[in-house]
Amino acid sequence: MKNFIKMSHLVLTITLIFIAIACDSSYRQVKVDAENKKKHELISDNFMITTQGEGTSAAGLEIIKAGGNIIDAAVAVSFAISVERPHSTGIGGGGFLIYYDAKTKKSHVYDFREMAPLKSHKKYFVDAEGKQIKDKSLTGGFAAGTPGLVRGLAKIHKDLGKMDWDKTVQPAIKLARNGFKVYPALHNAMSAERDRLLKFTDSKEIFLNKAGEPWPIGHVLVQEDLAKTLETIAQTYGEDFYTGDIAKKIVASIQEQKADMSMQDLAGYEVKKRDAIKGSYKGYEIISMPPPSSGGTHIVQILNILEDYDLKSMGVQNPKTIHLTSAAMQLAFRDRQRYMGDSDFVDVPLKTLTSKDYAARLRKLIKKNKALSFEELKTPSPLGKEPEHTTHFSLMDKEGNIVVSTQTINGWFGSALVAEGTGIVMNNEMDDFAASASGVNLFGALGGENNLVEARKRPLSSMSPSIVIKDGKPVLALGTPSGTRILTCVAQTILNYIEHELPLWEAVAATRYHHQWYPDEIRVDPPYFYTNTKKELQAMGYKINEKGFGCSIQAIANENGKLHGVSDMRGYGQAVGF
Ligand code: GLY
Repeated sequence: MKNFIKMSHLVLTITLIFIAIACDSSYRQVKVDAENKKKHELISDNFMITTQGEGTSAAGLEIIKAGGNIIDAAVAVSFAISVERPHSTGIGGGGFLIYYDAKTKKSHVYDFREMAPLKSHKKYFVDAEGKQIKDKSLTGGFAAGTPGLVRGLAKIHKDLGKMDWDKTVQPAIKLARNGFKVYPALHNAMSAERDRLLKFTDSKEIFLNKAGEPWPIGHVLVQEDLAKTLETIAQTYGEDFYTGDIAKKIVASIQEQKADMSMQDLAGYEVKKRDAIKGSYKGYEIISMPPPSSGGTHIVQILNILEDYDLKSMGVQNPKTIHLTSAAMQLAFRDRQRYMGDSDFVDVPLKTLTSKDYAARLRKLIKKNKALSFEELKTPSPLGKEPEHTTHFSLMDKEGNIVVSTQTINGWFGSALVAEGTGIVMNNEMDDFAASASGVNLFGALGGENNLVEARKRPLSSMSPSIVIKDGKPVLALGTPSGTRILTCVAQTILNYIEHELPLWEAVAATRYHHQWYPDEIRVDPPYFYTNTKKELQAMGYKINEKGFGCSIQAIANENGKLHGVSDMRGYGQAVGF
């Protein structure tokens, strides 16, 4: 009898181990400790904010608790994240914001992306032989487009805000003046960009110590010039940034570099209201960003291509699922190169790109168990380097109002140029243009004719603030930083949540992969695929590049009236609410 009990115990233990292995091997995901999880995930009843900054999430909450509405909170969050993530975003940059009004079910889409200066042109970044001029679009005055963030926020606030404008800027002023502790990602960015920061007096003084070294983790970073600039922005509804002393200081620093941005460029900056890109996936409505972002269009296109498959029964990280999803990504990126650009300047066939018919035609190109090669689609070009940057935040209230916004200065510390006396890090968004029709940008993405530089044109983006709705009710609000990976990370998180029905935490934590047609490879973020999965994909003809790629999804789901926030556990950030 004793032996029988022992035997049963053994069988049970072995069975449990097998079940545990089987469950764990179904998909890989990031694991974090309980304390980290507590910071990054929250469920609450009334209001939820997910951002990439702890001080920033707190700023949003402070404004809501002081009687502001969701827009006031979004404005406060935007200014605060400009202070807390100076390597990723800021008032020297731009972005996109979508506000979904629960009552009217209308999406208000704001584009405050940088614009090319009046004196720029198609050959701005190439020499007389047509060769790309190294670094001109990345560092210093020529790299910066005319920033749109401040005027964008002022317009959004005028249209939809409730609290006094100057109050919404106060948390950011406090954060800049009192400082905050340098966290690992900020320290890493300071180290990686040290040589570029050393080139400019104010950049060096703010972001490096006296010895010219990055501030250590834990050092309290105070940005007094930025605090003063924000005070002026608070007092002038942002106008001084475009026509006053701040504008003069920006132009002086840019022109010291012999670059072209002028007072006329700043005064003439235009915020655009646009129509959202809309699509659907198995009964869910998708709302996302139109050009000059490529993001929304290609998220809808990828979902359209995949809609015909039963990915759920295949499994979230089954090689077949990864193959089909990667192929859909490849086909979308091929069209990105060919067609995408600022639709105010070039015709972008949005209806076709987002149509189910076109997706069905593309689907026919996908082979069973065999990778599509770049060669069979087009000829290659050389690669660029790929740092992480940009930021995203999401807000949702119990009524179902939503704000999603992605903002950026492009690469880490943008152009590395801090306009003297202002604390403003100028963007290097000009690099998001195609320097030539066959060039590649910071993210290794191929350029195209439609995205060549033109005066007052907006560079092509991948930023994809996105919303998922079902039967008129909000399901999910999300977005992420990380260049061309933005749109594939957003598409995958949507698939993880609504197709594979993973809980929100797992939908964000699951291993991510990315295929952008060129380079011809599936890039995998840690934790990498299981060995067998990798082998099966390699047997289909895929090259697998195991190299992290920096997406940081900020998601909020409405689950039966409860607001469930997840701020990506891979990075610095926080879900807060009440
Ligand atoms: N600068 C990155 C993007 O706009 O996609």
